[in-house]
Amino acid sequence: MSKLLNREELKSKRDKYMVSGMKQLYAEPPHFVRGQAQFLYDEQGNEYLDMFAGIVTVSVGHCNPKVLEATTKQLQTLQHTSTIFLTQPMVDLAEKLADITPGELSKSFITNSGTEANEAAISMARVATGRHEVLVLKHSYHGQSHLVTSMTANQNYRQPTMPASGIAFVENAYCYRCPFKKTPETCNFECARDVEHVIQTQTSGQPAVMIAEPIQGVGGAITPPDGYFQEVKKILDNYGVLFIADEVQTGFGRTGYHMFGISNWDVQPDFMTMAKGLGNGLPIGACIATPAVADKCQKAVINTFGGNPVSAATGIAVIDTIVEDKLMENARVVGEYLLEGLRDLQKSFPIIGDVRGKGLMVGFEIAEPGTKRPMPAECSRIVELAKENKVVIGKGGLYGNTIRIKPPLTITKQDVDRCLSVVRKALESVCAVTARN
Ligand SMILES: Cc1ncc(COP(=O)(O)O)c(C=O)c1O
Repeated sequence: MSKLLNREELKSKRDKYMVSGMKQLYAEPPHFVRGQAQFLYDEQGNEYLDMFAGIVTVSVGHCNPKVLEATTKQLQTLQHTSTIFLTQPMVDLAEKLADITPGELSKSFITNSGTEANEAAISMARVATGRHEVLVLKHSYHGQSHLVTSMTANQNYRQPTMPASGIAFVENAYCYRCPFKKTPETCNFECARDVEHVIQTQTSGQPAVMIAEPIQGVGGAITPPDGYFQEVKKILDNYGVLFIADEVQTGFGRTGYHMFGISNWDVQPDFMTMAKGLGNGLPIGACIATPAVADKCQKAVINTFGGNPVSAATGIAVIDTIVEDKLMENARVVGEYLLEGLRDLQKSFPIIGDVRGKGLMVGFEIAEPGTKRPMPAECSRIVELAKENKVVIGKGGLYGNTIRIKPPLTITKQDVDRCLSVVRKALESVCAVTARN
């Protein structure tokens, strides 16, 4: 191992050797060298409360001892064979996924990432239906390959290259900035009905599949109202269109009420894709489908590292830990406490335009009071100030003005209090500057 660099040395080495498109969250990033539970430590030993979990990934806490034990044991036993050989951890994981996912979902393809899981789901949907076109929600993020970048409805993550074909974008259920200028009480789900309009006007009338994040992650915790996905699913069923719930962020108890986000809307998808929280930091993804769909795809698929024994054993240990330690319940209780605290803050700080989310999948938008003009610079400042006070929070949204709080599911109400007090201090500072200007 090379000598431990200080923050400045590491920053300039990174700038020299890593591709420039790989942006940092902070202008002045700390150099993290260690993680324990919900805390990160920099090279000088400073402790940070991690309220973003490595982009919604460290579900059961950094270096969780139970998971670590399973990973280490597997590392010392068998690391790799590839999917063409018979190994048990991958199959045990697939069985567990079948047990905890709703409805008929039971056939898994294990991958290394959410991108690959989404690629697999789209490919299977196309083969199973004999159709090509894909429906996607605006503001969505589905990954970084050519196909799924083309399905990402956010210019910030799309390269200026020729996109993949056959993708049509549907208005999303973004009530704070309703694309139809309606309110949830009177809208009659106009956004859900846009699915039918898009099928009729932007496709052959026979799309293969629709993909949606139950709560949009990178999009900024955009949370559809109750009833939304039920309406969407009715339309999809009418047109014989399959449905993929992209649970890469919302899966594994994060939303507090169900193991998977889409169950908050009582909808059973044909596929779920997952990644992030399943590995607690180790690379893993999965696409699970119903047999009705999966069994139509008989051509060989392979993934060299997908389902490798180490990631699979880790995934099993993560799921067991979430269940045994009642982390979904914790996400609900602590998440409600967090949402309440943020709504309280909103009363004092009108630049908090909207507070939304479920469980520990939470976001709040920074916008000019009255006009709702997005305030990305102020949002970035809040994130920087929080870091200076040793709390890590994320940001996102199409306009870069949404603070994202998605910590390990292990956090406590005391952690929330600390986070809220740091956010309050940051808001005071930002508002003081805004008032002066
Ligand atoms: C909802 C969603 N889907 C897919 C992905 C892609 O996952 P990965 O980065 O593991 O390829 C992400 C990543 O942020 C995501 O948030």
